[in-house]
Amino acid sequence: MSNSPQASTISINGKDRYHEPAPEHINVEEFRKVVMSRRSVRKFTSKPIPQTVVDDCLDMALLAPCSSGLQPWEFYVVRTPAKKAKLVKACMSQLAAKTASELIVCVARTDRVEEFSRKMLREWPMPDVPTLVKRYYQLIPYNYAPGPLNSFAMVKKAAFAVGGLVAPVPRGPYTSSEVQLWAAKSTALACENLVLAFRAHGYDTCMMEGFDEVRVRKLLKLEDAAFPVMVVGAGERADDGVFWPQVRFERELFVHEV
Ligand SMILES: Cc1cc2nc3c(=O)[nH]c(=O)nc-3n(C[C@H](O)[C@H](O)[C@H](O)COP(=O)(O)O)c2cc1C
Repeated sequence: MSNSPQASTISINGKDRYHEPAPEHINVEEFRKVVMSRRSVRKFTSKPIPQTVVDDCLDMALLAPCSSGLQPWEFYVVRTPAKKAKLVKACMSQLAAKTASELIVCVARTDRVEEFSRKMLREWPMPDVPTLVKRYYQLIPYNYAPGPLNSFAMVKKAAFAVGGLVAPVPRGPYTSSEVQLWAAKSTALACENLVLAFRAHGYDTCMMEGFDEVRVRKLLKLEDAAFPVMVVGAGERADDGVFWPQVRFERELFVHEV
């Protein structure tokens, strides 16, 4: 599935090149309003979110950038009342979970690298897969396979450490925890898209990692290679849904020009 309606082909230095123009006239003030009005909302009204809105927000989540384009995420919209009640409990009965109209468990997966690499090559959005791209997706499953007890990972780490003495080399992800981190990074980016999309539609959210992972895994019957990164509660903000003003420390603590 490709997502570039404006795309065309142009000629650069006599060669045909894919061309996807940067859209103009995006209203940055509207974007700023979305970013600045997003707050973690811990109390929602009982107003349901229309299904079309939920679907649109999930679709925007799926457009988040993802490492190697491999989309290592899944989103479980938990609706069945019995399952939802269990999920609320697993979220330590936080008010944000109890009052949310929708609860979405955002899951990272480390076990679809090979499958999705093959899918990428099968569904490459241009007539010919460039040789480098083909090689990349043929190699990547080996790269991200830690092996039993991280055995492959340790060999790769050692080999790259030696190679790294003379040139820049990738230092991971090799071990299973590095591969988990790899999947969690992209999944968290999708979560941010999700919450901003809800805000843009006039709804609010609370990201939650305060949940019992064992119970959430059991509820969703997650395999070992899938793990919940966060639960997103969503709904309409109650009048007293934001508990205090947003706190951000001085910019100088975080932004460095070097
Ligand atoms: C990964 C992550 C996990 C969080 N987990 C919880 C949680 O379990 N419960 C909760 O009330 N808020 C949770 N939050 C919300 C943070 O407390 C909140 O983002 C932070 O205090 C800043 O407030 P703001 O989101 O309104 O800017 C979480 C946020 C993130 C990013």
